[in-house]
Amino acid sequence: MEQRRYVPGRDEGEGTKRVVALSAGTAAVHLALIACGVKAGDEVLVQSYTFCASSHPITYLGAKPVFVGSEKDTWNMDPVLLEKAILDRKAKTGKYPKAIVPVALYGMPYQIDKIMAIAEKYGIPVIEDAAEGMGSRFNGQVLGTFGKYGVLSFNGNKMITTSGGGALICRNEKDANEIMWYATQARDAYPYYQHTAIGYNYRMSNVCAGIGRGQMKVLDAHIAHHKHVQALYEELLKDVSGVHIHKQPADPRYDANFWLCAATLDPEVRIQGQENAYKEVIKTAVGGAAGVIHQVDSATTDCQPNENVEALRVFMLGKKIEARPTWKPMHKQPVYAGAPVYTNGIEEELFKVGFCLPAGPYVTDEDVRYIVDTIKGAIER
Ligand SMILES: Cc1ncc(COP(=O)(O)O)c(C=O)c1O
Repeated sequence: MEQRRYVPGRDEGEGTKRVVALSAGTAAVHLALIACGVKAGDEVLVQSYTFCASSHPITYLGAKPVFVGSEKDTWNMDPVLLEKAILDRKAKTGKYPKAIVPVALYGMPYQIDKIMAIAEKYGIPVIEDAAEGMGSRFNGQVLGTFGKYGVLSFNGNKMITTSGGGALICRNEKDANEIMWYATQARDAYPYYQHTAIGYNYRMSNVCAGIGRGQMKVLDAHIAHHKHVQALYEELLKDVSGVHIHKQPADPRYDANFWLCAATLDPEVRIQGQENAYKEVIKTAVGGAAGVIHQVDSATTDCQPNENVEALRVFMLGKKIEARPTWKPMHKQPVYAGAPVYTNGIEEELFKVGFCLPAGPYVTDEDVRYIVDTIKGAIER
């Protein structure tokens, strides 16, 4: 009989994977951590440059996030820093961290071959946060299928949506059953409700699932569209000095979905209105906060995008274009003050110069041209 080659993440054979639909990607991260045995006092290694949903569920369990810095090329978890962090945590606490959470930032694949090799060397499970990377591939294999678990999100802004929702990719039926058990209040098999564990109400609703079944039909078209928009930005921005679109590495194994098109602005570029950047305290809601305004009393923090980047955001908003800052690194968030971090400072530098451009399914070629012309018009010559 032909010997099957061992492939990390496929070690239970082709076709054994199961996907559990859930109420949110955040719920998927939470349940994956539980299934990896994360408990109060444990440490979990997580990429710092990410949305808070990658790390917050670690704290729901009373565990501690240990933040890992990014590499320049992908903006994702640096495998060298990852191994350094594993060894240092073992030396300092006597224990290995309980899980590793790399994040496909803006859909860009992480160096999963290196991350899996390190994870296997130290016997630590990987939870891939592919919430932004649905359909992105590394070496032909989709993200979320390498690790022990893979997180997807169907939030309104994601590659496809169920209005709100998420999923956890599991390696086999047994793991999927356990996740679904936790997602349905952990009910034991009696005629009445009997509980031997604390569960959650994290199941995806049937109405959302119905929307999701329809959305699955447009996933490939959405991915193709996002790639097209990225290629157009790359083409149109190539001669704009001081503006650099974030490209995937030239290595053919990378195949990003380009969920969001991210770019950087050199610090010396002057933008119209820059003198007014950060002069006023924001009084409106921040993106995706359902209109909730949590008042603050200062216009600045100790780690923020450069003034020219903020001025560009404001300039573009004035032209009805929503450009957003990149994710503020988690180790720079006040709520994580004092958390251990292993970094070369790359994500902090990228946060200062980075911004995200519109890239959704409704962004037309004409829109991209208008956006690029607006960027050019914002630059003081
Ligand atoms: C990197 C990352 N992880 C997790 C999530 C959580 O997904 P959800 O909003 O579906 O809870 C998101 C998106 O919102 C995300 O961007």
